Amino acid sequence: MTKIERTFLVLKPGGIERGLLGEIIGRFERRGFRFIALKHTMVSRELTKRHYEEHRGKDFFDDLVSYTTSGPVVLAVIKGGDAIAVAREMVGATDPKLAKPGTIRSDYGIDMRRNLIHASDSEESAKREIALHFPDINLE
Ligand code: PPS
Repeated sequence: MTKIERTFLVLKPGGIERGLLGEIIGRFERRGFRFIALKHTMVSRELTKRHYEEHRGKDFFDDLVSYTTSGPVVLAVIKGGDAIAVAREMVGATDPKLAKPGTIRSDYGIDMRRNLIHASDSEESAKREIALHFPDINLE
């Protein structure tokens, strides 16, 4: 059965620099999701490290934090049917070379280190990430 969920997205600096914001947001809207929070902002290194907490210590961690804080990002919460799994499917595999055609990472990216978008990977992550970046949203 379809479950109405919220999930969290980060449209990363590379996609914004390339003018892909409207295109990426439009994909989620056309798929039927509603944007219930949207923020164009710079995120501090401290907050980014907390966001990516589970990857602390991995060899790509510093790189990931530097990239995510290298320019403005757009933080978003979307709502709709099975939002967490569907958004992950729309984003595609971490390595754009391995992402399936039709996914955002396949269609617009080639560089794994500068991929365009983050989407929460589970209900627990979505709750944690939404609370971290949009503390005023009521999650009940
Ligand atoms: S893991 O180890 O399988 O859990 O990692 P993965 O889910 O593939 O990736 C976690 C996030 O790290 C980013 N990533 C990288 N950034 C920079 N350089 C390298 N080599 C690299 N490998 C992975 C990846 O894009 C994920 O970020 P988000 O924002 O969640 O997509």
